[in-house]
Amino acid sequence: MLQTVSPRQIFRILIVSALGIYSLPCPTRRWMFLQKVDDMATNPRILAFAGSTRTDSYNKKLVQIAAAGARTAGAEVTYVDLRDLPMPLFDEDLETSHGLPPAARQFKDLLLAHQGLLIASPEYNSSIAAVLKNAIDWASRPTAGEPPLAGFTNKAAVIMSASPGALGGLRGLVHLRSILGNIKVLVLPDQIAVPKAHEAFNPDGSLKDAKQQASIEQLGQKLTEILVKLNA
Ligand SMILES: Cc1cc2nc3c(=O)[nH]c(=O)nc-3n(C[C@H](O)[C@H](O)[C@H](O)COP(=O)(O)O)c2cc1C
Repeated sequence: MLQTVSPRQIFRILIVSALGIYSLPCPTRRWMFLQKVDDMATNPRILAFAGSTRTDSYNKKLVQIAAAGARTAGAEVTYVDLRDLPMPLFDEDLETSHGLPPAARQFKDLLLAHQGLLIASPEYNSSIAAVLKNAIDWASRPTAGEPPLAGFTNKAAVIMSASPGALGGLRGLVHLRSILGNIKVLVLPDQIAVPKAHEAFNPDGSLKDAKQQASIEQLGQKLTEILVKLNA
């Protein structure tokens, strides 16, 4: 009988042959290694961040709700606050003279280490915030030994926004979707913009509206499910 080989089996075979894992003398260590390879396929790694540095940012709260949903669905989520990665404004002369600034390198390394992205983007003057665009611009720059757009290619992303305004930052999401799509990120159709954000959150960071809270958690869950399918 002809047996088809699943992409997961191919992935396993490739890793095993590349690393010569069957040469490991101890069967337990071999089994533990193979478990880890399988975990990479079933527990996707997701990087979550907001395009705001503000301490009380609505978007930071929002993305952490989606991150919790992703964790519940089995993802390993890293949350990063862009305030902790201060980058200079992108400047090609600075890049030529000094290369990637340390915070931009850190951000790019985080992107490289994750398969999925959860991004909550504030809307500034109908577009995305400069801090988010700046981080994307730095991380999009090629460095020696890396293929172009290495931090973004083949990532899957879910985007969301929160704003005190009536549209919830929806117009900024149109731009963010376009930017990410052009740098080879697969942006899922599911997205949510939370309007009247100044009234929407409880002091603990959850949303007052239970249905809205669940729908944001589901964004994280959806991204996790898609990543599991893509890696199956
Ligand atoms: C320069 C600037 C421009 C803004 N433009 C918009 C806008 O176009 N649409 C909107 O809904 N809110 C706009 N806002 C309000 C932001 O949505 C609000 O400051 C929000 O709290 C920012 O997100 P954060 O809470 O995650 O920091 C603007 C705020 C600033 C500072």
